[in-house]
Amino acid sequence: MNSTQILKTAHQILQMNDFGGYTVPTQGLYPFQWNWDSAITALGWMPFDEARGWQEIEMLVAGQWKNGMIPHIIFHKGSDTYFPGPDIWGAGEKLESTSISQPPIVASMMLEMLRVAKDKELAEDKLVTLLPAIIEYHLWWYRDRDPENLGLVASYHPWESGMDNSPAWDEALEAVPQVTWSYQRRDLNHVDSAERPHKVQYDRYLYLVEFFKNCEFDALKIYENCPYKVQDVALNSMLYRASKDLLELSIEYKIEHPGLAVIEAELTKTQNAINSLWSPESEFFHSKNLRTGELCHEMTSAGFMPVYAGIVDSEKLPKVASLANRWAHESTYSLASTIPSSSRYEPQRYWRGPIWLHINWMIAQGFAEAEYPALAGKMRDDAKALLDKSGFFEYFHADSGAGCGGDNFSWTAAIAVHWLI
Ligand code: DGY
Repeated sequence: MNSTQILKTAHQILQMNDFGGYTVPTQGLYPFQWNWDSAITALGWMPFDEARGWQEIEMLVAGQWKNGMIPHIIFHKGSDTYFPGPDIWGAGEKLESTSISQPPIVASMMLEMLRVAKDKELAEDKLVTLLPAIIEYHLWWYRDRDPENLGLVASYHPWESGMDNSPAWDEALEAVPQVTWSYQRRDLNHVDSAERPHKVQYDRYLYLVEFFKNCEFDALKIYENCPYKVQDVALNSMLYRASKDLLELSIEYKIEHPGLAVIEAELTKTQNAINSLWSPESEFFHSKNLRTGELCHEMTSAGFMPVYAGIVDSEKLPKVASLANRWAHESTYSLASTIPSSSRYEPQRYWRGPIWLHINWMIAQGFAEAEYPALAGKMRDDAKALLDKSGFFEYFHADSGAGCGGDNFSWTAAIAVHWLI
């Protein structure tokens, strides 16, 4: 696919998925506004319609809770093609939503949007209006999700990581009871079950959704009693980078907010705390199960995200890069979301092995900035080869390169225009 073809198809996909100011990730499978999908998709709109790109973020902020949380899904309009919908979550304030969040990359995407914006006046106008809400969002993470001041925030649901059925969560999720009521999954109406999580995982995902509702969404009650509580290495890395980007934007536009000093102090804490996620045995970063105090031992690409954060010290960085080089050659396309030598590697099943272009874009960005251009280049070349072979799918089989999950996917379109041409 040449640049003109990529631009044309990407634009068509974004237009097709535009539900009126917000973009659904793909029709049918995900018919609402998702937090991190939208942040990336906003960037994808920039070459076509800058005002529409900024509007994507405005629609996301419209779902913000009074405590600052921006939910993982905002249910702007009803749909019967997705489960669990707003009736099960029972949450939301100005708009119906879920009661958890998702990786907070929105500030980083806003910085990227500013960099590519042609209309700097429009960008300034939007940023000055939106930044205070994003500052509140970051403060919510630090306040509600790190009440013990550990320097790393906790997440309460695999959906909050965005990496739903990653094998990293297997042990932590086993501690969550399964619901016993029957329900009808809708995802399997759209995608082959071999590419989606198993029922046993859904039973536990739903238990957590009910648990939040039973706690009346009370931050402390949930922190103290949630049966699933992890320090997600990828989420914390994205939060760290986004906080740095948020400070940069706030300085640029002279935003005055008492929370900025808090965010700066949190960055220093995370710089130390990230080392508590390092395993000397695997010489790699892992998430931590806060209920047991143990690292989640499975090797997943989430462990490379501290490189994207720019937070890896000079002793660890060459070790992580050399692991990435080996990992990149263990599957036909780099970089599989689970290390292919693992017994839990499934190259087609959602977060258990497939290639996700947005994650690889971030990891490659990290390696490029850390001066590993060959590794970053290989990841980019492989991403382009996947797009050429299979088109704009949600994720890709790490060995055959086949498109998996939803087709005509918004963030794949966004990453293609932003990274691959
Ligand atoms: C799903 O429904 O599969 C989503 O990943 C939840 O965010």
